[in-house]
Amino acid sequence: MPDLYPLISPLLRALPAEAAHRLTIRALASGLGSAGARRAEPDPPILKQILWGRDFPNPIGIAAGFDKDAEVPDALLRLGFGFAETGTVTPRPQPGNPKPRIFRLYNDRAVINRMGFNSRGLEPTLARLRARQRVGVVGVNLGKNRDSTDAAADYLAGVRRVGPLADYFVINVSSPNTPGLRDLQRREILEDLLRRLVAARDEAAPGTPLLVKIAPDLSPVERADIAALAGPSGIDGIVIANTTIARPVRLRSAAAGEQGGLSGGPLFAPSTALLREIYRLTQGKIPLVGVGGIASAADAYAKIRAGASLVQLYTALVFDGPALVGRLKRGLAELIARDGLASIADVVGADHVLASATPPPSRRQA
Ligand SMILES: Cc1cc2nc3c(=O)[nH]c(=O)nc-3n(C[C@H](O)[C@H](O)[C@H](O)COP(=O)(O)O)c2cc1C
Repeated sequence: MPDLYPLISPLLRALPAEAAHRLTIRALASGLGSAGARRAEPDPPILKQILWGRDFPNPIGIAAGFDKDAEVPDALLRLGFGFAETGTVTPRPQPGNPKPRIFRLYNDRAVINRMGFNSRGLEPTLARLRARQRVGVVGVNLGKNRDSTDAAADYLAGVRRVGPLADYFVINVSSPNTPGLRDLQRREILEDLLRRLVAARDEAAPGTPLLVKIAPDLSPVERADIAALAGPSGIDGIVIANTTIARPVRLRSAAAGEQGGLSGGPLFAPSTALLREIYRLTQGKIPLVGVGGIASAADAYAKIRAGASLVQLYTALVFDGPALVGRLKRGLAELIARDGLASIADVVGADHVLASATPPPSRRQA
């Protein structure tokens, strides 16, 4: 299948970011760009993995926010993603923040967004998930309505209503664009929230993995608290990380001063450092999903070595187009083979094994 993206990309670039995104979704929904892609190029077997009893043909997923209303999960799978995360979906429809609210930072290969959970609500997502054939892994990222006074009730409604239609759930307590949302990451609040959500999951969708998505801006204490909670809470994984309100590097693009969450290249280092730390703190006992700034096979490989069982991306797709997915998979398979490893599972957390095998400095000198 020829890569048509170089032809289309000047058009997308000329459009406002959100209009370009709508056009992309429409193109995917109409079958353009992905027809036959998967069949033409099967995934390298070395990338296969079974996690939570689900088959992942490759570890590269599309991150939440791209397909908020579950319009094109199967088209994204056909594009070559190993799994697709739809959402964030809120229980009731809501418009999100005023436009413009997505900004492309070409010189930084980054995006700033302050979408604010624009969502058509649970109903359309439910209808679309019900109508699809259950092939491939499709997760649902759940949020709360901006005007809701009971956050837990919103997430509980998501878990109960989406129930067995999701292959996994993500509880999004980390978007920077809904006031107060990130406070839910505080230990005493999160502990209670997760206990109730795990119980709801056990009732509505037993066996469906429940993950929590965290922010890259957590304090050291919050990081330790979340790691300590992970095991006892009964959750099945952590997605690391959402966009950042920090500006970790000096940005060079015209839109650098916009308010909102930053994603793409500048997020790679801080999100990977957080992933590495959470893997260490949880001793590799809980699967982690690494997301933030992945734009090459080397980036994806670095996240997996730091502790991710799966990875996701969004922003690099804006700059590089869908052919990136195939390049990442081929490159990742080559890197694994180069290092003499047999499967993705052998790579997960490999940096930590090496670090603990390295003798302390005093012995090294001897
Ligand atoms: C325009 C845009 C919208 C997003 N919307 C959501 C969302 O609704 N829910 C969510 O959990 N993350 C959302 N994200 C965050 C991404 O899922 C991801 O965590 C982040 O962008 C870092 O990955 P990246 O650098 O590959 O883009 C959004 C990101 C962007 C750029």
